[in-house]
Amino acid sequence: MVKRVACQPVTTRPPRETGNMNNDVLLKVDHLTRRFGGLTAVSDLSFEIRKGEILGLIGPNGAGKSTTFNCVSGFYPPSEGSITFRGENISGLPTHEVCHRGLVRTFQHDSMLSQMTVYDNILIATFSQIRSKAARDARVRETAALLNLTDFLDEYAGNLSHGQQRMVSIAIAFATRPTLLCLDEPLTGLNQTEVVATLKIFRRIRDEFDTSILLVEHNMKAVMEICDRIVVMDHGVFLAVGAPAEIKQNPAVISAYLGKRA
Ligand SMILES: Nc1ncnc2c1ncn2[C@@H]1O[C@H](COP(=O)(O)OP(=O)(O)OP(=O)(O)O)[C@@H](O)[C@H]1O
Ligand SMILES: [Mg+2]
Repeated sequence: MVKRVACQPVTTRPPRETGNMNNDVLLKVDHLTRRFGGLTAVSDLSFEIRKGEILGLIGPNGAGKSTTFNCVSGFYPPSEGSITFRGENISGLPTHEVCHRGLVRTFQHDSMLSQMTVYDNILIATFSQIRSKAARDARVRETAALLNLTDFLDEYAGNLSHGQQRMVSIAIAFATRPTLLCLDEPLTGLNQTEVVATLKIFRRIRDEFDTSILLVEHNMKAVMEICDRIVVMDHGVFLAVGAPAEIKQNPAVISAYLGKRA
């Protein structure tokens, strides 16, 4: 499947609308509702991501996490509510416009061009952003080095291990150097060594590149370890928000999620 992220942050466009956002707030999800016919997948959900934050979004299967991702990244317009990114109302903007503004996402399932090399997969993501061939090459190599893919640049993506393919998916998204990187279950299927290495990469992305991260993930140990704050949802509705230590102790969360799965 072709990954739909190959866009770039462009900061020169005038904002469509500027709200009274706190300067520390990067993304504001405000009373978001998304319906599919008679099914309400996300209902009246509100939360914020602050600059420099790694925010976890957790909940049981079917809670509405990916639907929230799809609304935030422009794949689905909200049925109600709004999404504000860097002070601009981006609700209903198409994906490429959202990408242009510096918000990119990965998918729950791997999505890359398996019959192209790792180098070309990452290169495609740089095309609309970087004109110079040398600069594109430098971006690909820097991104590959960060994701531990340097030794596999000439390999067909389809020949890589599952863990390496997960890294290619993240590399394609991160090659655009987003302000906010949204990751939908990036640790699925990784072994413990790979999980540890990937969490280290997430910290580097945040600390060295000033990119905030929205992380949907079922690996509770990893979520508790890496997230600054965690938003919990269940059956499409907001359940709780707080630091990992608070979330671990929250009775509603334990009953809805952690108690069943941890
Ligand atoms: N395109 C769609 N059309 C109809 N229903 C959908 C669509 N996308 C999601 N849903 C439904 O919305 C609900 C929330 O799904 P969603 O994929 O957002 O959950 P999730 O929290 O990401 O779950 P998981 O942890 O299993 O990935 C589910 O009942 C799902 O079947
Ligand atoms: Mg999902």
